[in-house]
Amino acid sequence: MENKEELQLQFEYIERLKKITENLASKYGRKPICAIVTFGCQMNARDSEKLNGIVSEAGFDLTEDESGADLVIYNTCTVRDNANQKLYGHLGTLKARKKKIPTLRIALCGCMMQEQSVIENISKNYKFVDLVFGTHNIYKFAELLVRMYESDSQIIDIWDKTDDIVESLPVLRKYPYKSGVNIMFGCDNFCSYCIVPYVRGRERSREPLEIIREIEKLVADGVIEVMLLGQNVNSYGKGLSGDITFAGLLREVEKIEGLKRIRFMTSHPKDLSDELIEVMASSEKICRHIHLPLQAGSDRILKDMNRRYTKESYLKLVDKIKVAMPDIAITTDIIVGYPGETVADVDETIDVIRKVCYDNAFTFIYSKRTGTPAAAREDQADENFVKEQFDRVLSAVRECSAIKNGALTGSVQEALVESVSEQDPTMVTGRLSYNSMVHFKGSADLIGSIVPVRLIQAKGFYYIGEEVKDEH
Ligand code: 5AD
Ligand code: SF4
Repeated sequence: MENKEELQLQFEYIERLKKITENLASKYGRKPICAIVTFGCQMNARDSEKLNGIVSEAGFDLTEDESGADLVIYNTCTVRDNANQKLYGHLGTLKARKKKIPTLRIALCGCMMQEQSVIENISKNYKFVDLVFGTHNIYKFAELLVRMYESDSQIIDIWDKTDDIVESLPVLRKYPYKSGVNIMFGCDNFCSYCIVPYVRGRERSREPLEIIREIEKLVADGVIEVMLLGQNVNSYGKGLSGDITFAGLLREVEKIEGLKRIRFMTSHPKDLSDELIEVMASSEKICRHIHLPLQAGSDRILKDMNRRYTKESYLKLVDKIKVAMPDIAITTDIIVGYPGETVADVDETIDVIRKVCYDNAFTFIYSKRTGTPAAAREDQADENFVKEQFDRVLSAVRECSAIKNGALTGSVQEALVESVSEQDPTMVTGRLSYNSMVHFKGSADLIGSIVPVRLIQAKGFYYIGEEVKDEH
């Protein structure tokens, strides 16, 4: 259940923050400007909408351009080491700026801040950073900003866990017509390579009624598509009273009037139930797309990764899904270069890629994350070997997505128009139920509506189409 007292307290801090921004505004002769820079996954994107909600409620103007901001916030990711390196790169630039403009305020939050070595580094070598907080106390953002503005020294506030859920603070959505909705937090799976369970903590599900209320409010505010978010949505409901499952939750979400599309992310293959497949197949609103991370195709590697499925059981699951929904788009995540992975192991991964024929696959080079069991292994892979294997995997992925991405040519599909096309201002870009994109002639007034589009030509990862104005 949501912690109402904490919610009230944070609203009080937003009021205090308003006074601070008023003072800043009279000092600068304009409203203070805030930039929130987001790294990483959909969860972080949603968290940034919460941060944006609070700063805009408190009277900041928002900008995407960090070089023009008075307050810069980095919402960080640490799933792979290159995300960490990117942050340090940005901090180098900011240090020079802060020397010139001492009123600049810098805050860091997100997954990377939950790592002790990062905090040690920042407190020692990045003293110009004003505020550091983590994933568990993000709901205290207003309070933390007040403390930051009232103090001259660096504030670091990191918790290793929380039982509280505080979700009703102001949120500023990036898109008026679609929104992420957290249904659960944390992860209990401890895949051997993954840092997420250490930085996002134990799994906690939100009460179904609170989720439904939130979606109803979003729909009343113009949202027609929601993305239900969790590290492993298939284990939703664990720890809640009653016997609610993810499939049961979807059934309830489906009933919300005015909501047109439902997506979810991410599904762990080990927990995907027959009930979920049934609910998806019979749904009018759940999109025909499932993201089903494979990670590796070799049983030996899967076992070591602690994934708790085999190549055979994964393929069986995919078959079941395809039998129930023959047109479904399937995407995946793959890791190449896990410690001890051999050419024969990678062959197994490629075999799965060909058998499933993914619509798209995100392929990652294994990144050693301190504190995870895989990082302690002595047989870390050779860089050149990994590059070769990565290229082999990538070309198999490309072959399959080329096959899949032409499959809808000639058909008429509903597209939710998301934006004016970046390349051509006379075109708009829409997203299909299958998650692929289509560009077609149209203007900005179509944004946020679902229109029927004939797919004329497949071009790599998207289609060129035309709006079907009258089907009769
Ligand atoms: N190295 C490389 N990729 C990783 N992922 C998670 N941890 C690592 C790691 N240590 C990938 C997985 C996961 C996706 C979000 O990131 O494929 O599904
Ligand atoms: Fe990481 Fe595995 Fe949890 Fe996904 S399911 S967040 S890969 S530990």
